[in-house]
Amino acid sequence: MILHSSYDVNEAGHLTIGGIDAADLAAEFGTPAYFLDTDAVRTMCRTYKKAFAEYFGEKSCPVYAGKALCYRGIYRIIAEEGLMADCVSPGELHTVHAAGFPMANVFFHGNNKTDADLAYAIDLGVGHIVVDGMDELNALDRIAGEKGTVQPVLLRITPGIDPHTHQKIITGNVDSKFGMAILTGQAFDFVKAALDCKNIRLDGFHCHVGSQIFDIEPFTEAADIMLAFIAKIRGEYGYTAEILNIGGGFGVRYTENDPQIDYTENVRALGAEIDKMCAEYNIAKPTLLMEPGRSIVAAAGSTLYTCGSVKTVTGFRNYVSVDGGMPDNPRYALYQSAYTILNAVKMNEPADFECTVAGRCCESGDLLAEGIKLAKPERGDLIAVLVTGAYNHSMASNYNRLPRPPIVEIAGGKTKLAVRRETYDDLLALDL
Ligand code: LLP
Repeated sequence: MILHSSYDVNEAGHLTIGGIDAADLAAEFGTPAYFLDTDAVRTMCRTYKKAFAEYFGEKSCPVYAGKALCYRGIYRIIAEEGLMADCVSPGELHTVHAAGFPMANVFFHGNNKTDADLAYAIDLGVGHIVVDGMDELNALDRIAGEKGTVQPVLLRITPGIDPHTHQKIITGNVDSKFGMAILTGQAFDFVKAALDCKNIRLDGFHCHVGSQIFDIEPFTEAADIMLAFIAKIRGEYGYTAEILNIGGGFGVRYTENDPQIDYTENVRALGAEIDKMCAEYNIAKPTLLMEPGRSIVAAAGSTLYTCGSVKTVTGFRNYVSVDGGMPDNPRYALYQSAYTILNAVKMNEPADFECTVAGRCCESGDLLAEGIKLAKPERGDLIAVLVTGAYNHSMASNYNRLPRPPIVEIAGGKTKLAVRRETYDDLLALDL
C-alpha cells in the first residue's frame, strides 16, 4: 500500500490502482486520464454514515459536497450509499437530478443564487435551500410565493473562526462573502426575518469553517458558537432549530508529510463534545449534518500522464513534462498543493532524480510539483499523481484548447468508463 488502500506495486514493478496495473490502464484508456477507485469511495461513505449514526445521532447523515467531484456516476454511488448531497450551482443541481438522486435529500448552497437558480431549485424539489443573506431570503420568499409553495431552508451563519489558528471570533473570518455573522448581530435579524417569511420554513442553521482540516478543534469551536446561537435564538424568538449543519472540511493525506486521519475517531470525539455542549446550553441535540467532499473522493482518485520531454537546464534544474497539467489539475498553480508523484513503471527503482514536473501549457506557472524526486523518467514512462479525486476534474478547464481527460471508475478489479474523454470536436461544439 502506498499512502492509501487504492495504491500498490506489482511484481513488474508497476503501480497498481484499485488492483490494476497502471500500464494496462493507460494502454486501454490513454493519458492523461483520471481513475476513481469506487470501492474506496464507498468505504468512505460507509465509514461516515456509520460514525454519524453512532456518534451524532440516528437522524444524522453525511451530505456529500459535490463540488469536490461532480458527474452523474458519483451521485449514483452517493445515492446507493444513502448519503445526502450538497450542490452549489444550477449545473450541479442539474447533474444530481439527471443521476436520479432523491431531490429531497439535496441542499442548495451559494452566496449569489440568482432568481432563476432559486426557481430552478424549487422546481426540481430541492429539499433545503441554504439561504446566504437577507437579499436572497426576500427573493426566495417572493419566488416560493409565486409558485404557491413553502420552501424549507437553513440559514448560513458565519461563526467567525479561523480553522488554522483555532481562535474564535477572528474578525477576518467574519468578513466573508458567505453567510450572516453572529458577531455583528446581523445573524439575529436574519433569523427574525426568516421566521416572518410566509413562504419559507426555517429548519435550522448552516456554517462552514474551512477545508483540509486535520484537527477537530475548529469544528468543536464552530459547534460551540452555533449551539450557543441556537440557545440564544430560542430565548429571544422561542424558535428551536432542528438541524445544525457544520459544513465540510476534514483533511486528506496527500503526501507522507500529512497525518493519517481516523475519521471515525474524529466524529466520535466531535459528537462527544457536542453532547456536552447541548447539556450545557440546555438544548435538545439538533440533527447534526456535515458535508464532507474531499475526504470522500480525494484518496480514491489518481491521474495518469505520459512523460514527454525530460530536460536539464544546466546549473538549474531538471524539467519532466507530462501530457496534462494545470487544465486537469490547477491545484499546484493555484495553491502550491503538494502531491505524491511517482514514475508508475519504475516503482522498484530508486527515486533519486530531482525534478520539477511541468504540464504542457504555454505558461511557466503550469507545474504539478517542484523539487520532488522520481525514478529517472524517460519519454514514454507513465507518471502517476495520487490523491487527485477531489477538486481536479471539478476544477478542470480547456485552457490551451486541451480536451478534458476521461474518468474511469474501478470497482472489484474491473474498469468502467464513467466520463468519456473530450474530443477536438467537443471543443468546437459550442462555437457558432
Ligand atoms: N460545504 C461547504 C459549504 C463548503 O464551502 C465546502 C468547501 C465543503 C462543504 C466541502 O469541503 P471539503 O470536505 O471538500 O473540504 N478548491 C479548493 C477547496 C475549496 C473548498 C470550498 N468549500 C481546493 O482545491 O483545495
